Amino acid sequence: MRRESILIYLEDIPAEPIAPILERGVLVGEIRTGGIRAAIEQAPSWRVVPAFLVLDVSGVEDVAGAVATLSSVAPQGETSLILLGQKDCVAEYRKMIEAGASEYLPVPVDAEALYEAVVRLAGQKATGQVDPARCVAFIGARGGMGSSTLAAAAAKVAAERHGRRTLLIDLDIVEGAQHVIFDVDQTPAMQQMLEAPDRIDSIFLDRSIVQASKGLFLLSMADIGSTKIFTADAVASIVRQAQQGMDLVILDMPARPQVEIEALFCAGIIFLVTTPTLLGLRDAGALSDWLSGRNYPGKIVCVLNRMGETRAGAVRKEQFERRLRCRVIELPFDPRTPGQAIMEKRTVGEIRGPLGRAFRQVEEELPTFRRPTEGFLSWLLKGG
Ligand SMILES: Nc1ncnc2c1ncn2[C@@H]1O[C@H](COP(=O)(O)OP(=O)(O)OP(=O)(O)O)[C@@H](O)[C@H]1O
Ligand SMILES: [Mg+2]
Repeated sequence: MRRESILIYLEDIPAEPIAPILERGVLVGEIRTGGIRAAIEQAPSWRVVPAFLVLDVSGVEDVAGAVATLSSVAPQGETSLILLGQKDCVAEYRKMIEAGASEYLPVPVDAEALYEAVVRLAGQKATGQVDPARCVAFIGARGGMGSSTLAAAAAKVAAERHGRRTLLIDLDIVEGAQHVIFDVDQTPAMQQMLEAPDRIDSIFLDRSIVQASKGLFLLSMADIGSTKIFTADAVASIVRQAQQGMDLVILDMPARPQVEIEALFCAGIIFLVTTPTLLGLRDAGALSDWLSGRNYPGKIVCVLNRMGETRAGAVRKEQFERRLRCRVIELPFDPRTPGQAIMEKRTVGEIRGPLGRAFRQVEEELPTFRRPTEGFLSWLLKGG
């Protein structure tokens, strides 16, 4: 089993027999007091939901109600809920499973029993794949087309307007700009993640991301030095892990990707950003051909950015449509908005003006993924 996070809230059940579970090194986490009531109080401040949440519900009358309250206040994500209680009978077990538990263990509970349950549930989880419907990528046909600007704007509207917990991953090793756009610190653990993808767990991820704004987190690769350590599997591991605690992952690709290009296959939608020029048409066409040659199964949306910047020799939208055979969105050249966005610590999608207005078309293409309103535990129960 790879390393996983665990959070245990006990009330009446003693901690001593359970504590050794944290000494095995596979599970990283804490034992806290206060049972499910403490979990409800503290859940709003969890950054990433633990992979395993263990709750002592031995003194709780309405377990289903308490679990529903917890899931409505906790951040959304995938967790395996293990409930611990006093009664040892099938009816009680069924009641706990109906309340949202993945497993129910009656007292006496010790580290061994809990560990066995965790391993069993981890085995079920390990088969999890990247969900392309919850991952989109932005890539420029050439350098400087505006793909990072648009990736940042998409991440911000997804988090802020659509209320989706979003992780923006800046895959540009040489010139990554997202930490500058959002004015946050770099995330140094990214290199270690790529070097040892099998060690990527929710704790590692939690330590490596920085919060950029409400519901928006950033993982940045800038300055890690080399693309050699980069594999498609490593990125997929990061995306898979991120999807356990986030609703949406947005990849900001470098314009001239090397091995990083494989990361595109994690995404269900690729926004191919270009400008209405002959070189833009040629390079967007080449990338689109490469993707179809590799049987890319997702959807490509072409974003024709900076329209109107150069009138002489501009290539029309219809030519892009014919060449790429996909939807083409036009965004105007709007030199005021990016500067204003930086000054106001916002992104271009939030600034009123020609670019902000037109950006709505990109926003509409973002996956309309909606979780049921009851919260994360029931979402997990229904299998996502
Ligand atoms: N529609 C637009 N109108 C005016 N300026 C824009 C527009 N879109 C992006 N820009 C500006 O273009 C510049 C390049 O944008 P950005 O860094 O997003 O491009 P990129 O494709 O990510 O480039 P890189 O190749 O460096 O990754 C930035 O200064 C940005 O503010
Ligand atoms: Mg960029």
